[in-house]
Amino acid sequence: MAKLNILEFPDPRLKTVAKPVESFDAELKKLVEDMTETMYSANGIGLAATQVNVHKRLLVLDISEEREQLGVYINPQILSESGEQNCEEGCLSVPGVYASVKRAENVTVKAQDMGGNFFEEQLEGLHAVCIQHEMDHLIGRLFVDYLSPLRRNMVRKKLEKQRKVAAQEAEEHLIL
Ligand code: NI
Repeated sequence: MAKLNILEFPDPRLKTVAKPVESFDAELKKLVEDMTETMYSANGIGLAATQVNVHKRLLVLDISEEREQLGVYINPQILSESGEQNCEEGCLSVPGVYASVKRAENVTVKAQDMGGNFFEEQLEGLHAVCIQHEMDHLIGRLFVDYLSPLRRNMVRKKLEKQRKVAAQEAEEHLIL
């Protein structure tokens, strides 16, 4: 397994629309394993392929505290949704930024597993938030796209500043 590099906002590659997965082969299995390791080691609860610069429709998620309930969704579609909830969201591609986003409370999802078999699931609460957030990545949308242009610009500036400080600190220290 290998840890993959996660693209960060405002990287234009995050706006790419992913294509359906067609081959359920060893390469796909390796990608799912690498994405899972990347998500767990970054302490994320979800990761879409778009975030690791692979533009295919697949995502992994695990909202359990024990990190033992991995969900793999290939070619996911939302069949129906109901209700409404607001959740404070963050994203591995927008580090250190959190904002409240309105999402459906319940969703019915249809997807394929690594063998290409179709399954359906009903998700609610945080689980529903997570899959809606990850599916947005697959169409090139980030949670900050729901914010006003002014707030999105503030996010961009905050991240630029964070990167500058990190780069400066790295220059001033020995990293062994
Ligand atoms: Ni995200």
